[in-house]
Amino acid sequence: MTRPFVIALDGPAAAGKGTLAKRLAAHFGLAYLDTGALYRAVGLSVLRQGKDPTDPIAATEAAKNLPADLLQDPELRSAASGDASSKVAAIPSVRAALFDWQRRFAAEPQPFADGTPRSGSVLDGRDIGTVICPDADVKIFVTATPEARANRRLKELQARGEKAIYARVLEDIVARDARDTARADAPMKAAEDAVHLDTSDLDIDQVFAKAKAIVDERLKPS
Ligand code: C5P
Repeated sequence: MTRPFVIALDGPAAAGKGTLAKRLAAHFGLAYLDTGALYRAVGLSVLRQGKDPTDPIAATEAAKNLPADLLQDPELRSAASGDASSKVAAIPSVRAALFDWQRRFAAEPQPFADGTPRSGSVLDGRDIGTVICPDADVKIFVTATPEARANRRLKELQARGEKAIYARVLEDIVARDARDTARADAPMKAAEDAVHLDTSDLDIDQVFAKAKAIVDERLKPS
């Protein structure tokens, strides 16, 4: 059996990874996993228990017992869940608890709804190209300036009906970047063989076109 095809998209918050990952998955018929949702779900679960997301025991317990329906919870996209997610993500035992599941998702892509097998998957996160799928066929590190990302996140939060102000959103993004980059275990960083894609001045169609060209190049028979 041929090894499943894997696209790893990494990069900081609100750089456009999620939207790009969904479009790539739809275009190439691949399964899609938003790995940030796993950490957000752990963060949200800890918050709902009234516990502290930096508490390793509470966070690890939550990571080991994640209810599947929590991954669909609209609260996952809230600013509070985002903040809690990067706190639980710095705890090695939380990362360890989520590791196998992510690996398996890439190794055994979910079939289409009618049972037709898929040839691979797209995973987006912070450590996909470095830790979860170091052998991924395509690795793209998606970036944008903190200001461009804050503007996008602000619109997203406002569209959800959350009250948000630009300066605060920017501050949160910078703080989250710092936590994600500084942590000892699986910090956010580009894999050495990743292609860098700066989306600051691009719209989604332009980002998709560039990423699609990178994947097409990889799929060309050699
Ligand atoms: O991608 P998203 O912003 O939803 O991720 C939320 C948080 O989850 C990130 O700030 C990061 O701390 C954590 N995360 C991670 N590793 C991943 C995906 C997300 O540490 N692969």
